[in-house]
Amino acid sequence: MSKTLIGIIGCGNISDAYFKGAARSSFVQVKACADLNPEAAKAKAALYGAMSLSVPALLADPDISLVVNLTVPLAHAAVSRQIIDAEKHVYSEKPLAARFADAAALIERARAKGLRVGCAPDTFMGASHQASRRALDAGAIGQAVGGAAVIMSHGAESWHPNPEFFYKQGGGPVLDMGPYYVTQLVNLLGPVRRAVGLATIGNPTRTITSEPLKGSQIKVDVPTTVNGVLEFVSGANVALSASWDVWKHNRMSPLEIYGTEGTLLGVDPNFFGNTPRVCGPDGALRDVDIAAHPFGIANRELRNGTMQADYRMVGLVDMAIAIRQQRAHRASGEMALHVTEVLEALIASSTTGGFVNLTTRCERPAPVPLGSDESVFA
Ligand SMILES: NC(=O)c1ccc[n+]([C@@H]2O[C@H](COP(=O)([O-])OP(=O)(O)OC[C@H]3O[C@@H](n4cnc5c(N)ncnc54)[C@H](O)[C@@H]3O)[C@@H](O)[C@H]2O)c1
Repeated sequence: MSKTLIGIIGCGNISDAYFKGAARSSFVQVKACADLNPEAAKAKAALYGAMSLSVPALLADPDISLVVNLTVPLAHAAVSRQIIDAEKHVYSEKPLAARFADAAALIERARAKGLRVGCAPDTFMGASHQASRRALDAGAIGQAVGGAAVIMSHGAESWHPNPEFFYKQGGGPVLDMGPYYVTQLVNLLGPVRRAVGLATIGNPTRTITSEPLKGSQIKVDVPTTVNGVLEFVSGANVALSASWDVWKHNRMSPLEIYGTEGTLLGVDPNFFGNTPRVCGPDGALRDVDIAAHPFGIANRELRNGTMQADYRMVGLVDMAIAIRQQRAHRASGEMALHVTEVLEALIASSTTGGFVNLTTRCERPAPVPLGSDESVFA
């Protein structure tokens, strides 16, 4: 299979993961990149051996059939729309759009043109999350009844070089980190029927402590502490706590599912690896073996020195192959649209004061086949 030539729009912090991932892949190759800031595109192009183009020139390149949108959340809808209008498939970083209505319009536009939309996160395709799903589907905990998801830190202004977007529409712990957790919950439990939540802003301004903008202030436009409940179509309900106002906590289990016959202790859906655990009615926890699944071996050292499995962009590889094979891709626009609606509903219900019934549904993505690398998609 020849490589699918892709373009990247948005050459900031996360783009290295995509350039490096593409360089490792036998199925995709970055032909060109672009950015509002031409210097950013030139720097990445030089580093990774791609062409640096303007956005219109990249979109006019007939060799490029799939474009990756790595801009900031508030620009996602407009840039993805430009990509679709240029008759190209789009794979976007999360969230699909800063507002659900814009995400819905995007999916509709792509559908009308017969183009594909894919969207991060693809971490649910990681070995640990796939093994969790396999255990759940095999009945390891009986029928899922409840669960808890916990997203807690003190935000991104201590490490990201340009963290303003984290506190604008499309950011905050719910829209920025929520996609990882809710996508994995959808992977495990299926779609959500309704959501309810309470939302508040801790500090109305944030002071950047990372370089090069150290000392600058950010006005916070989005809730930074949200507690809510999701009711799934399956009947299960899951409590979700998402906060960037937390200096310290002891809720070390990021995702747990409680079933009629046992418990699944999941792992951080922001990464691909680590070992989930399950127990039955006797309460004796055992490790879920993830070794037969791809994308589980630790390959990235984090700022705190720990190693994690991070294969970000395998969703894009799956999509590129799926287009050729005319099958559904797993990190789909439809699932991302549903997740965006769920996340927006959690916040909206805080002001409307009641449950928000969701208008969208999506299928659970097909499981990733067993294997050791991206060739499982081919
Ligand atoms: N940084 C991370 O660790 C991380 C991890 C996972 C996902 N993401 C997601 O990736 C996306 C990008 O994040 P980032 O950290 O790389 O941000 P960033 O601010 O570092 O980079 C964004 C880049 O997009 C460019 N840009 C903005 N609007 C544009 C437009 N209209 N046209 C062309 N270029 C435009 C900016 O000039 C900038 O270079 C966000 O959606 C974020 O949620 C980031």
